[in-house]
Amino acid sequence: MNAPNAPQATPFSSTTNILEVRNLSVEYASASGTVRALNNVSIALGRGQILGLAGESGSGKTTLGHAIARLLRPPAAITGGQALYYPADGARHARPRNAPDDGQPIDILQLSGKQLRAVRWSTLAIVFQSAMNALNPVLRLSSQIDDVLKAHRPDMAAQERRERANELLRLVGISPDRIKSYPHELSGGMRQRAIIAIALALSPEIIIMDEPTTALDVVVQREILLEIARLRERFNFSVIFITHDLSLLLELADKIAIMYAGRLVETATRAELKQQPRHPYSYGMLHSFPTLRGPRRRMTGIPGSPPDLRETPAGCAFHPRCPMAFAPCATVLPKMRSSSAETPQQLVACHLYDATYASGSLPTNAEFGARYEEVYAQSRLGTRRAVAEDVR
Ligand SMILES: Nc1ncnc2c1ncn2[C@@H]1O[C@H](COP(=O)(O)OP(=O)(O)OP(=O)(O)O)[C@@H](O)[C@H]1O
Ligand code: SF4
Ligand SMILES: [Mg+2]
Repeated sequence: MNAPNAPQATPFSSTTNILEVRNLSVEYASASGTVRALNNVSIALGRGQILGLAGESGSGKTTLGHAIARLLRPPAAITGGQALYYPADGARHARPRNAPDDGQPIDILQLSGKQLRAVRWSTLAIVFQSAMNALNPVLRLSSQIDDVLKAHRPDMAAQERRERANELLRLVGISPDRIKSYPHELSGGMRQRAIIAIALALSPEIIIMDEPTTALDVVVQREILLEIARLRERFNFSVIFITHDLSLLLELADKIAIMYAGRLVETATRAELKQQPRHPYSYGMLHSFPTLRGPRRRMTGIPGSPPDLRETPAGCAFHPRCPMAFAPCATVLPKMRSSSAETPQQLVACHLYDATYASGSLPTNAEFGARYEEVYAQSRLGTRRAVAEDVR
């Protein structure tokens, strides 16, 4: 049989992690029902690494980023889990000033308001989704960078802050003579770079970037990605990079986590995912975007749309759309487990890897592709028939 019957695993767990999210759950209360936006999500971010987080719209990516940064506000509520930060020995921001130095990881979700203020920006910074509009339109860049430095480094003199602001702009490829510009005087790419500069202001160890390049054209997008990779190399910070574009993560991320309907469905290294996605949803996502390089390939996309998280389908939430679905999928929730002995770190939540799965072999890209094609052929045929009947 194809998969070891392993207990539920924690992705990438190792002593080299800077952040481990464990069994995190978040709900939004609404008049029409409870939205279960995150359901027992566990991810790990390696020190100095880029962890890509991908999934369709509404899968819970932003909620996860905001939960880690403690930015969620009612009606959102964290209903369980931990976000453990592991300060490095001798790190400059080893511990928030007022957190006990007992050698234990720090659960960001348990920090007091004061402790949280010490962690934000200097340990953990966030680049918000729609960051292009996140700059204050009536303040010059200089004031916006200065505000962050003034608030978190009260010991810095005005001259020092000015020098740091110029340095930050240079770092992200903006000429310091633009420091007096208002946001509307900057191109989209420059605004995005300015936001990254502000995130870097206090040299954080972790940066959460939520769709930082989505609104940019592909050329500028590429430049910004190269810039992020270059800065990461230079300053060795760790990044959670959120996007719905998996092909982009195959260029940038060390490891990739894929979410569907508020749950994690696969975690793998970039190489593992490129070679053989294990979850049918991951395969569908990979074939929904053209690759940035390499040979041309047929795109299949994923039929249907993501579920309403107030009424997530029972069993595997992907089963109504999955071309591989079989008997247990509609009733039994698949657990995250190692997908094969060859790739023990590639974890997947799918019944195709159950010890009881009857086929006896791991599904291949060819099999996934053929099944998706079948579903598409049927849906095209169904659409043509419906149209023909309407015309009659
Ligand atoms: N304030 C809110 N009240 C109720 N539901 C919410 C709220 N904010 C988000 N949600 C729901 O939580 C779920 C997850 O949303 P989230 O914004 O985290 O998704 P996402 O993966 O970041 O999507 P996108 O790719 O569109 O940014 C969605 O179903 C969304 O409708
Ligand atoms: S558990 Fe079943 S429905 Fe879900 S992805 Fe796997 S095969 Fe498809
Ligand atoms: Mg989002």
